[in-house]
Amino acid sequence: MIRALITGGAGFIGSHLSEQLLKNGYHVTAIDNLSTGRLQNIEGLANDPNFRYAIEDIRNIHVIDRLVSECDIIFHLAAAVGVRNIIDRPINTIEVNIGGTETILKTASRYRRRVLIASTSEVYGKGVSFPFREDDDTLSGPTLRSRWSYAASKAIDEFLAFAYHAEIDLPVTLFRLFNTVGPRQVGQYGMVVPRFVRWALANEPIQVYGDGQQQRCFGNVYDVVGAIQGLAESDCAIGELYNIGSNEEVSILELAQRIRDRADSASTIELVPYEQAYQQPGFEDFRRRVPSIEKIRAAIGWQPTTPLDDTIDQIVAYYQNEMYPA
Ligand SMILES: NC(=O)c1ccc[n+]([C@@H]2O[C@H](COP(=O)([O-])OP(=O)(O)OC[C@H]3O[C@@H](n4cnc5c(N)ncnc54)[C@H](O)[C@@H]3O)[C@@H](O)[C@H]2O)c1
Repeated sequence: MIRALITGGAGFIGSHLSEQLLKNGYHVTAIDNLSTGRLQNIEGLANDPNFRYAIEDIRNIHVIDRLVSECDIIFHLAAAVGVRNIIDRPINTIEVNIGGTETILKTASRYRRRVLIASTSEVYGKGVSFPFREDDDTLSGPTLRSRWSYAASKAIDEFLAFAYHAEIDLPVTLFRLFNTVGPRQVGQYGMVVPRFVRWALANEPIQVYGDGQQQRCFGNVYDVVGAIQGLAESDCAIGELYNIGSNEEVSILELAQRIRDRADSASTIELVPYEQAYQQPGFEDFRRRVPSIEKIRAAIGWQPTTPLDDTIDQIVAYYQNEMYPA
């Protein structure tokens, strides 16, 4: 039985990954400090004899040392996330994202463990060509704007992981997640889909930031955790970086309309300027963000299979049950 350690295991993606790996015969240990994660995400796993969890910070080197020594493979997902969170708490963002990854890599190298690290499409920054390919140049914004600290801290994580691979042959795999959505994702840290769904279900105005013409691709979390497991089980993924995401593009305005329709809602849709939404002058958003998934398809044959409308239906059903339990 493969023993997996999942950092951020009580988070949105981490809890789905825990379930996916348990279903596929792994033993799973989750570590999470519950800063943006929730115990209720993993409560369904509490009685599984192959699951255990620790409520702890990943920078606690004593705990990490023990947990890494007891596992075969690490899935490092713990991070400060969410635009709102990053703008409000930039020190925490930088310290957790860089310090946490450093602790994981150092400890993994002590025990020679395989490590998979979650990075982000934000590393591409404003983007130089479309679709985004793993070996593209990146174009970041100024350090005066704290929103870029997330992308920069994740880019340092990538450099550090590749350095451990190059210098001491640590078996690392990096994956850049594009917008990932599904049941359990919460909206309070700035995630767009759960916010839209909650507003739609409450028949409140759906607030779209900017002109709503920015294009995004939303990957389904069940597809995404399948890709992560596939990479973990592939030796050819060692020392490599992969995009994981959907390539079905939608504008944010259209997303709001589709969520309103599928939730059978009477909500209006309002455009809100970025400055007002984030109370930060000169907030920069990206017009378009679309992954090339050629590399992961060639490596492990993965491609997303869930259409966006089906994903919206899953999220609407999840929130309907949370807001109006049967
Ligand atoms: N959801 C997306 O669209 C998306 C996109 C790109 C990248 N990612 C990456 O995927 C990973 C998981 O994100 P998510 O969407 O599931 O968000 P999430 O907030 O649900 O998960 C992050 C988890 O890390 C935990 N955490 C944060 N700091 C910690 C610390 N110091 N010690 C222990 N635990 C800590 C949080 O409590 C949370 O459970 C992150 O690394 C994120 O950067 C997600």
